[in-house]
Amino acid sequence: MCGIVGYIGKQINPKIGIEALKRLEYRGYDSAGMAVFNSATKEISSLKSKGKISFLEEKFLDSEISGSPFILHTRWATHGIPNEINAHPHHDCKKNIWVVHNGIIENYKALKKKLENEDHKFVSETDTEVLAHLIEHFFKGNLEEAVRKTLKLVKGTYGILVIAKNDPGKIVAAKNSSPLVLAANNGDIFVASDPAALISYSRKVIFLDDEEIAVLTPDNFFVTDLENNFREKEVSEIEWTPKQIQKEGYSHFMLKEIFEEPEAIKNSTRGRLIFEEGLAKLGGLEEVIDKLKEIKRLIIVACGTASYAGLVGEYMIEEYAGIPVEVEIGSEFRYRKPILDKNTAVLAISQSGETADTLAAIREAKRKGALTLGITNVVGSTQARETDAGVYNHVGPEIAVGTTKAFISQLTVLALLTMCLGRQRQMSLVIGQRIAKEIQKLPELAKSILKKDKQIKELAKKYSKFKNIFFLGRKYNLPIAAEGALKIKEIAYYIHAENYPGGEMKHGPIALIDENFPCFFIAPSDSVYEKMINAIEEAKARGAKTIAVATEGNEDIKNIVDDVIYIPKTLEMLTPILATIPLHLLSAYMGLELGCDIDKPRNLAKSVTVE
Ligand code: G6P
Repeated sequence: MCGIVGYIGKQINPKIGIEALKRLEYRGYDSAGMAVFNSATKEISSLKSKGKISFLEEKFLDSEISGSPFILHTRWATHGIPNEINAHPHHDCKKNIWVVHNGIIENYKALKKKLENEDHKFVSETDTEVLAHLIEHFFKGNLEEAVRKTLKLVKGTYGILVIAKNDPGKIVAAKNSSPLVLAANNGDIFVASDPAALISYSRKVIFLDDEEIAVLTPDNFFVTDLENNFREKEVSEIEWTPKQIQKEGYSHFMLKEIFEEPEAIKNSTRGRLIFEEGLAKLGGLEEVIDKLKEIKRLIIVACGTASYAGLVGEYMIEEYAGIPVEVEIGSEFRYRKPILDKNTAVLAISQSGETADTLAAIREAKRKGALTLGITNVVGSTQARETDAGVYNHVGPEIAVGTTKAFISQLTVLALLTMCLGRQRQMSLVIGQRIAKEIQKLPELAKSILKKDKQIKELAKKYSKFKNIFFLGRKYNLPIAAEGALKIKEIAYYIHAENYPGGEMKHGPIALIDENFPCFFIAPSDSVYEKMINAIEEAKARGAKTIAVATEGNEDIKNIVDDVIYIPKTLEMLTPILATIPLHLLSAYMGLELGCDIDKPRNLAKSVTVE
């Protein structure tokens, strides 16, 4: 939530900061702003704009702003409506201190009241503005000292960058829960919310930990804790390349990333399948492999699409490894009283590895003594660093806000994990080998689905005229119905889409169905196919248009539904991987048909780092 970028060094054109900020636009696009220290005038100038970064860029190009350091922000609104006044950077009354912030200051009201009593005048509705005033309140010429005193009073989450007119040769950065990463290179230092902003500049980065303060000067930096004790930091290498963050001929990142889904399956399985042993070797779990043998229960925690991957994982692991699995929404987990013990493992699934609710769940699990595991795409992310062990997706940066290739990879990794846990328990060598073989075929099968691109575009045209759509599935594909509906809600946002278990429709939602309520059925030829046919007939009998995602070779279904999207045959547990692909394409094309910005859907952010 919110992206922040800072730079200090030889360069004085903040355009490089704007370019870096654009890489973080998926974190929010309600407003954007920048503050720049001009060494000639010794003043800090600022520009702000409501909406996307391109509006800020237009203002910047018409301005003559230059200098260093500079700090920038792209906002996903929490406190205060999206307008210029609430846009960051925020400053104190004297315009000495300028702050950009990602997170929520929970006790800002009490702090604000105190400061107002001391004649501080606030202009915005944000929680962030209190930081600027409080830092100024403590400022005696040394910025990091004032920041340290301020943070000791603050409750909440923050990734902040601060510059001061009266202590100009530095940026002070600090974090608690919201991520911050630095890259230093030949007299230039960048700091940002995530490595995607930095890879065009350097692939060697340093992740800040919670309650650390970094002081960046043009040619150096150092890190301390809140008590001013020096902290040694490790350099991490980012595997992503600058090419991966380009559209490479596609009109939108979402389309590019859907067309990368076959590659995503390949990359998530590369070197991990051991065919002779019917096994998956997951390097990141090696250290806990013996502990995994002991676990009696698995709780999967995740948010949004990642939670649907978790639900598929539940079916896979229960069926093939015989371990009871529960899936919990991250934001619910710690507010009830989850029962955990040392024989329970908690597995977090998150593309970004920065989702605040998922991280909070993992911290709660750790506190209660459970083994914590993770599946994430972002190397060095908070989740990767805080879990006991984990598996990376290795699908490269995902830029479009709606997750696509990372979801396909999460499903693939869960199939690998199922093999790993299953072979430790009840899964036979033959079954293990069969699953390994079928997983190996998936990239080619996935490619063949993407060749149906034209047909799916036509269907998108036809069905985007409706105001409501139902997605129905059963067993392994029930979570895929949920993913189909969520993607339409997120991406094609003039359409209301719902999902329901195919067998449950008759217990209520069937009342909604008429000729204006088309129903998509995820109906591959699996163990519940016949039951899905019943649900299709029930919808048809109420006049609904019906569309099925079905298995190639099933000619009968053509006589039952209005439209069919065929997917190739695979093992039942792997059908969700293939069934998702046409639904991802469908949502993207429906979004385009309706004139939506499919890469940056309204009101959303990719990485939700606030609770
Ligand atoms: C946001 C995104 C969703 C995503 C969810 C979880 O809500 O809009 O597309 O599924 O966060 O993100 P994560 O990074 O934890 O997978």
